[in-house]
Amino acid sequence: MTDNLHQLHCFGCGERISGSAARPDFRCAQCGDLFEVEYPGWSQRQSNNRPNSGALKWLWRERRCSSEALDQSGVWRFRELLPILNSYGNAITLREGNTPLYTLTRAARALGIDQLFAKHQGMNPTGSFKDTGMTAAMSVARELGFEWVACASTGNTSAAMAAYAARAGLRSLVLIPDGKIAWGKLAQAMDYGAVTCQLKTDFDGCVKVLAKIVQEAPIYLLNSVNPYRLEGQKTPAIEIAEAFDWNVPDHLIVPGGNLANSSALGKGFREMRELGLIARLPRISVIQAEGANPLARSFAQSEGTALEPVEAHTRATAIRIGNPASWRKAVRVIQETGGWCLDVTETEIAIAKAELGAEGLGCEPASAVTLAGLKKLRADGRVAPSDSVVLLLTGHTLKDADYTIDFHRGTLLTEQEASGHEAEIDALRRNAVGVDATPEAVLAVMKGSAG
Ligand code: F0G
Repeated sequence: MTDNLHQLHCFGCGERISGSAARPDFRCAQCGDLFEVEYPGWSQRQSNNRPNSGALKWLWRERRCSSEALDQSGVWRFRELLPILNSYGNAITLREGNTPLYTLTRAARALGIDQLFAKHQGMNPTGSFKDTGMTAAMSVARELGFEWVACASTGNTSAAMAAYAARAGLRSLVLIPDGKIAWGKLAQAMDYGAVTCQLKTDFDGCVKVLAKIVQEAPIYLLNSVNPYRLEGQKTPAIEIAEAFDWNVPDHLIVPGGNLANSSALGKGFREMRELGLIARLPRISVIQAEGANPLARSFAQSEGTALEPVEAHTRATAIRIGNPASWRKAVRVIQETGGWCLDVTETEIAIAKAELGAEGLGCEPASAVTLAGLKKLRADGRVAPSDSVVLLLTGHTLKDADYTIDFHRGTLLTEQEASGHEAEIDALRRNAVGVDATPEAVLAVMKGSAG
């Protein structure tokens, strides 16, 4: 880890420390708040450490033709914007990033929007956006010489951490809530060789246990309180700006759980503006599930000045989080970009997920909150027909196949949840049918499924 180009800035009290002075729990010793990575050379226009925006755009485009592992990574291709390593030989990469930006034609038509896109972070090596952050923080862990890394997780962080630790030759410890994560994610942690503990508590309980463990043993914490995770997770913002030819969309809509991702993307756009790579910021809106909505409540009750933790309940298990660590950072991003924070119901999530599936993309339930939230923002006019909108899809559809199968079998939602939405749900459901092994029987099924 290089201490000469970056420092850590406390989000709460403003304290600045060197990277090597961070405590094992990454909390500020003065006030207990979280740190952000800061690059002092960037704010001084004459500084030698301030990257030149024109040269960067050219260099990053050139690297697309390179066969070097580092250049093929959609995170390290932009390494000038995350100068956190002493030696790039320590970078652990699975060629993360470089995720597709798809057009969503059917949803755009239905909502009356000209330009609607999905940035599909589920197309990363372990199937979620966590890979972009994990490559950055795991590389730091290796450079610092740790043998063990650990995280508490609703599933995706643990899958990503286990994979990158295996690549780095490090041991990994995963704490997950017993029975409340999708099978695909648990399978990944096992497959990549993590020591996996299912604790009889929720995600917030796992975080508390781990915070104590890292004080007692030399284990590198890889939850998103680790500020280096966010340095990797800001790079999809750069990919989006590059795809828009260094303009930005009017809106970026992001799911909210522990609220690190929205914070990281906001940081990415803020830094690009500071360096003159882009001229303005997109409005960044965060969408939560109704049963796990502490930030949406905070905005409704106190304009984001205070946050009351909730006991979280949602089938979108990835965002089943009641006490989000990065909420203050997310509030700043929403307010500085002019975005909003909303919540959506279980029914709205299920319908939106099926609609994204029907466009040939698919995603995990937590990602579908973005389309459900966009419908609300469009309905009340906060998103205009001429606006360009990017939905950030965070996880691959195969992460939680049970959810999808239950929806199509008609066993996901309760009668009460489905009430009033029956026609919409029926039009989306595509249950598998058991038929006799004859062409006639199969053709009869086809005829019966008109439309
Ligand atoms: N979408 C998916 C698929 C996730 O896995 C998560 C978080 C989020 C959205 C929310 O992102 O926490 O940065 O606001 N998953 C974490 C985990 C907490 O442990 O995998 P956030």
